[in-house]
Amino acid sequence: MGNYTITVLPGDGIGPEVTEQAILVLDAIASRYQHTFTYHKRLVGVAAIEAEGEAISDESLALCRQSDAILFGAVGGRSDYAGRDKVKPEQALFKLRKGLQFFANLRPVKPLKNLLSASSIKPEILQGTDLLVVRELTGGLYYGHLEPPVPGKPSEIRQTEHGTEAIDTLLYTEAEIERILRVAFEVARDRQKKVTSVDKANVLSSSVLWRQVANRVAAEYPDVAFEHLLVDACAMHLIRKPTSFDVIVTENLFGDILTDEASMLAGSMGMLPSASLGTQKTAHGRLGLYEPIHGSAPDIAGQGKANPIAAILSAAMLLHYSLGLKDEAFAIEAAVAKTIEEGYRTEDLREAGATIINTQQMGQKIAAAVLK
Ligand SMILES: NC(=O)c1ccc[n+]([C@@H]2O[C@H](COP(=O)([O-])OP(=O)(O)OC[C@H]3O[C@@H](n4cnc5c(N)ncnc54)[C@H](O)[C@@H]3O)[C@@H](O)[C@H]2O)c1
Repeated sequence: MGNYTITVLPGDGIGPEVTEQAILVLDAIASRYQHTFTYHKRLVGVAAIEAEGEAISDESLALCRQSDAILFGAVGGRSDYAGRDKVKPEQALFKLRKGLQFFANLRPVKPLKNLLSASSIKPEILQGTDLLVVRELTGGLYYGHLEPPVPGKPSEIRQTEHGTEAIDTLLYTEAEIERILRVAFEVARDRQKKVTSVDKANVLSSSVLWRQVANRVAAEYPDVAFEHLLVDACAMHLIRKPTSFDVIVTENLFGDILTDEASMLAGSMGMLPSASLGTQKTAHGRLGLYEPIHGSAPDIAGQGKANPIAAILSAAMLLHYSLGLKDEAFAIEAAVAKTIEEGYRTEDLREAGATIINTQQMGQKIAAAVLK
């Protein structure tokens, strides 16, 4: 029985539709386990640009910082809004990630047994897959482009006496590598106790350092099995024997590519949650931002076709990682599995014999299953 404060940023397109269902399910958890969740709802994305002139206001950001966790929908998808030449909705995510130092992105992939046929991978290969990719989110190649330019991290197209050239910088400090490795080992202790560290140490200096740090950190977790894998081999094993993985930890660019590949194992974008964890500790755990991996899906917004399960499973991750409520998180996962087992599907998972229901009905079914 506890009191928790959650900042809710529903955003644009299907963001508000799926977030509403995640809250419905959180309310069912509150009722079953006698918790109090206080929600502070704020605008983000196009909705915030139109009403407040920026993708996320400083007040909303401050509120996020003070809460126990952040539940995020999706932003973007509209190009007809006032102020579009000055502000982009995606700036909200950059501001949140940078402002709150969300350096660890967690993406679990656990295809449900009743949905194995929804993936393009053969069911016998998928059966039993339950992996989590931990991606470093604030360093590496993608952070050279920051404005103003970061000293020592050039990222630009430039003219030289030999012609035009382009440069990006892949820079990691030992401290950045160590903190993401620690997140991976800590979460592995809660799972199957295996970490695969993915790099390109046969070519890149940053990967050689990554490997050295990984070896040092691994020695502190003797209860967790540990292996190194080159990123090209990892890409292959992900679709050849995905069951061989528990926790995969890797740097920003490799993680970006591998998480998209891994997401295909689950069949639909509408099934995959994510968490971004920061450095800030709260009374119950670590401050985090939880969101479905999909975007605002303007093609289906307002039609009741959005699958809310990715948002609902994001709420489960919120309970697990930021509030320390693991039983409650498992209760949501079990309710999702049961609802799918009973044959209910949203449009994206249409198959013969299934009962097709809308976004709201899916939320209600899962909330009801939590309470059973
Ligand atoms: N974190 C974010 O807020 C985020 C992430 C990705 C994309 N975006 C933005 O979203 C907008 C649309 O991008 P996109 O179309 O490339 O990607 P998208 O994820 O929004 O949609 C891709 C396809 O998947 C379908 N889809 C997505 N989520 C679904 C769900 N829950 N249920 C059923 N079907 C679902 C969509 O209908 C669409 O056909 C863009 O403006 C993009 O910048 C935002």
